[in-house]
Amino acid sequence: MPPSWRRLIPRSVRLRSRLRLKNGRWRLATPDRVMLEDVIAPEFLGRRDIRRMLDVGVAWYTRTYPRLYRGIEYHSIDVDPAMQRIAGRRHHTLSLTDLATVYPADTFDLVVCNGVFGWGLDTAEQVARGLDACADVLRPGGWLVVGWNDMEGRRIPDLDGLAGRRFDRAVLPAARADHLVTPTHYAHRYDFFTRR
Ligand SMILES: C[S@@+](CC[C@H](N)C(=O)[O-])C[C@H]1O[C@@H](n2cnc3c(N)ncnc32)[C@H](O)[C@@H]1O
Repeated sequence: MPPSWRRLIPRSVRLRSRLRLKNGRWRLATPDRVMLEDVIAPEFLGRRDIRRMLDVGVAWYTRTYPRLYRGIEYHSIDVDPAMQRIAGRRHHTLSLTDLATVYPADTFDLVVCNGVFGWGLDTAEQVARGLDACADVLRPGGWLVVGWNDMEGRRIPDLDGLAGRRFDRAVLPAARADHLVTPTHYAHRYDFFTRR
């Protein structure tokens, strides 16, 4: 769709037109979502070392994620109290930067932080605090997936420099790369790290 038309149609309507039913689960079939659900999530589902995970940020199209990640103990947080209503059973209304007030060190094997940096935690200082908070609750060797839009107004300032203080870049076997860039006009990408 040409960018000029896109602006005329409300985002909620555009997204609903991308809904697909797959394996009894409604999903948002944008390329970035398909990559998360069909490539990244299955990688972790198949691993014995991934038993407990934290998903940061809830949205209507992530309601089914406790089922997507079935087999992994699924926890979520969102800073917005309104998200409690659509979140799964193990949910806290909490800012990413305050994780340590609820979760002890080494709690999680995996943190997925998709669409949060650039959507609330935007400055280098805020991103650094968010990354530190992830490192504090991940076990050594635990995985961090950062999903973000590499575009003006959303871009993370110096992700590598900020993450490099506590994390190493890691190749996700399913992707055969330490990051994935999706074919979206908003340049959504995923970066993979493990906690040092
Ligand atoms: C674009 S949605 C992303 C939802 C989901 N993580 C995904 O995969 O698309 C952004 C969500 O992040 C939440 N958020 C923003 N800042 C946050 C923070 N500091 N801590 C936790 N959640 C935050 C917002 O309330 C919003 O629900």
